[in-house]
Amino acid sequence: MIIALTGFMGCGKSRIGNELSRLLSIPVVDLDKYIEKKTGRSVRQIFEIHSEQVFRQMELSALQEICSRIATEGDIILSLGGGTLTTEECARIVRENTLCIYLRATTDTLVSHLKGNSAKRPMLKGATDEKSLREKIENLMKDRSAVYEKTAHIIIDTDGLNALQIAWVIQREVQRSVPQGRP
Ligand code: S3P
Repeated sequence: MIIALTGFMGCGKSRIGNELSRLLSIPVVDLDKYIEKKTGRSVRQIFEIHSEQVFRQMELSALQEICSRIATEGDIILSLGGGTLTTEECARIVRENTLCIYLRATTDTLVSHLKGNSAKRPMLKGATDEKSLREKIENLMKDRSAVYEKTAHIIIDTDGLNALQIAWVIQREVQRSVPQGRP
């Protein structure tokens, strides 16, 4: 089975994925890192050299590969990019092939995580101060929150919890929704 983690940039998908990987003893695959390894370029370079559209196509191909090849070798945790589900086909694949968990966070939490930490994220380009960062997050979330919510099978409100605590909540929810206690 694939446990897919989704949520806005800065919600902690990678850190939580690593904690969950230790708890469940299953490997974690990070979609951005998978693309970076495959292309030999950073996500930022891909946006700069090509475009967001090209990056979204790469996300789709990577997702298809992971679902059809890597995940057949055993259970994995898949940490998605914050915008992966904005591609309709990606959202369909995730909904139909994974147990998708939306790590929901308030704008305040996202701002505090992303403040001073947004330079490597092309979708936040130009957010040079807290006000513009907040505006970018709110604008992107206008479209994205519905997509996250309708694609996810489980929604976890993460405010006030650290990565390990969130991983515990996910572990409990996964065991609840997979009756045999797997993975
Ligand atoms: C993006 C999120 C990033 C990365 C890319 C685009 C987005 O991943 O995939 O910069 O559109 O929200 P993280 O959510 O891991 O930062």
